[in-house]
Amino acid sequence: MFLVANWKMNMTRALIDEYLDVLSESSIWGTLDGSRIRIGIAPSHVYLDHVVLGIQNRDLPIIVLAQDVSTRTSGAFTGEVGMPNLLDIGVKGVVIGHSERRRFFHETDENVVIKTDLSLSADMVPIVCFGESGSQRKRGKTFSVVKSQIEPVFKGVKKARERGITSPFYLAYEPVWAIGSGQNATPADIHEVAKYVSEEFSWPDPPAFLYGGSVSSDNIRSLSSLGDLSGFLVGSAWLDPHALLHSADLVRQLNRPVREGVHVK
Ligand code: PGA
Repeated sequence: MFLVANWKMNMTRALIDEYLDVLSESSIWGTLDGSRIRIGIAPSHVYLDHVVLGIQNRDLPIIVLAQDVSTRTSGAFTGEVGMPNLLDIGVKGVVIGHSERRRFFHETDENVVIKTDLSLSADMVPIVCFGESGSQRKRGKTFSVVKSQIEPVFKGVKKARERGITSPFYLAYEPVWAIGSGQNATPADIHEVAKYVSEEFSWPDPPAFLYGGSVSSDNIRSLSSLGDLSGFLVGSAWLDPHALLHSADLVRQLNRPVREGVHVK
């Protein structure tokens, strides 16, 4: 299971050091050895370098992911952070198309495809987020929204696979109404969307799904129960390192087989 803490626009250097110290002092790592649990952290861009060095110095088997990447790779694009920048500092994955980026920063499906392709080509693990809003769900539009978001991604992944790119790839089902609301999707909701996405498109390899939206140590076991998920993308709850460790331990005890694993390089 891939457990990713999305810190969003939170944390400071001091808090990051405390967070990593808590992780480093935990006895969990021995028990995770040989398990299929992988932990990822997605800090804000300004702290990526600090977190990469922080986990190296503490010898923590954690993957660092960016919360976004530019569609451009270099040049006169003030304020952007490109894939070569992320690679240069040892970032291993990137969250793409998060609903907050779609909603507040006009992220388009077209951009999502470009970013996914850049990530796969750079052997950087993409986590592509998708999911419907509350009003779309109420109007019975969940599948049509999901289809419109996933179809271009599917085409892009298929082309990348045809080019021989085999890097792992994750789809994160993050219904907008569940994010930060305290109201998580049910295992049945997740199951029907994962099944729909898996069956609607002829994926070259079966997609691995993460779920995000009000995940906590209280619901992570039940959310894992239907077996569709390869992990979780978690915001507020995992701003607390103890909660991340506790959740990792709960998931470890389930000892579930997963579809796709990322390796700590
Ligand atoms: P949340 O956020 O866990 O605070 O609901 C999840 C996310 O946005 O990835």
